[in-house]
Amino acid sequence: MSVSNILKAVFPAAGLGTRFLPATKNQPKEMLSLYDKPAIQYVIEEAAGAGLKDILIIIAPNKRSIIDHFDRNELLEKYLEARGKEELAKKIKKISEIARLHYTYQVDPLGLGHAVLMAEPFIGNSPFAVYLADDIIDPPPSGKNASQQMIDLFSETGSSVIALEAVSWEKVSGYGVVDGKKIGERKIKITNVVEKPSREEAPSNLTIVGRYIFTPTIFELLKNTPAGRNGEIQLTDAIQKLIEIEPVYGLEFEGRRFDTGDPAGFLEATVEFALKGEDSERIRKYLIELSKKL
Ligand code: G1P
Repeated sequence: MSVSNILKAVFPAAGLGTRFLPATKNQPKEMLSLYDKPAIQYVIEEAAGAGLKDILIIIAPNKRSIIDHFDRNELLEKYLEARGKEELAKKIKKISEIARLHYTYQVDPLGLGHAVLMAEPFIGNSPFAVYLADDIIDPPPSGKNASQQMIDLFSETGSSVIALEAVSWEKVSGYGVVDGKKIGERKIKITNVVEKPSREEAPSNLTIVGRYIFTPTIFELLKNTPAGRNGEIQLTDAIQKLIEIEPVYGLEFEGRRFDTGDPAGFLEATVEFALKGEDSERIRKYLIELSKKL
C-alpha cells in the first residue's frame, strides 16, 4: 500500500493537560508555545510534510483557540501588510493552509482509545495515522521526518506501525511499553504491549511515542475494549488485541523526540528550538553564562 492509502490523520487533543496545571487551566496544552510556535503546529506540520493533509482534530469544548489558530485572521494580516510587514503577514496566512483541518468534540474525557474511535466516520475503512501533540519530533538533519519513515514501513508491510523510542529504565512507567522481535536495525515485530507498567513489570525499555499508523481493524477492537487503566478506554489495550490478529510493527525512528507533556520536557524542547531560531546566538550566549553559575 502507498501513501495514497493513508491520506487521513487523527489528532486527539481533548486531554485536560493535568501534568501542566495551572498553565492549562484555561488554555489548551497544545497551544502552549514552544519558543515562538504552538506545540500543535509543529505536529500538524510534520503530518502535512509527510503528505497527510486531511486531519481530524478531536477537541474538548474549551479548546476553541486551536480552531482559531489554524483559521485566517484577515484583520491581523491587513494590519501587518499596512505596516510593511508582508513577510510576517504571509507567514500568518500560511498557517491556515498547512492542511485541511476538521474538528469534532470529545465532551467526556473517556480516554485516548475513545477519542480514536470517534474518528471512524471521518476515516472510513482505510489505514490512517494518529498523532499525539505531547510528542514533538525534530527530524534528523536532511532526513525524512518520523511520519515519512513510518509511512515507508507501512508501505513495505501493509501493517500497522507504531513509533518507538528506547528510554532510560526510570522513565518506562510513564509510557506504553512494547516487547517484540527485532527484524531490522530499527524495526521490530511487536508481540506484546503494556500501558505504563512499573519498572519491574516492563518487558523492555522500548516505549511508544505518540505516532501510530493503524489499519481500520483497530476500530472494531476499540468498540469492544472495556474501560481499563484510570477508567479510560486505552488505545494500548486495543493494540494488544490487534497484535493477536494482525502483524504490528514498531519503528525506532530517526530524529530527536521531546516529550513536552510536562513543564521540564517542554522547557528542554523550547531551548532546543530557540537555539535553531533567529535569536540563537543570544540564547547560546545566555546559556553559556548561565551554566557558569550552576
Ligand atoms: C499516551 C499513550 C502511551 C504513550 C504516550 C506517548 O500516554 O497512552 O502508550 O507511550 O502517549 O506520549 P499519555 O502521555 O497520553 O498518558
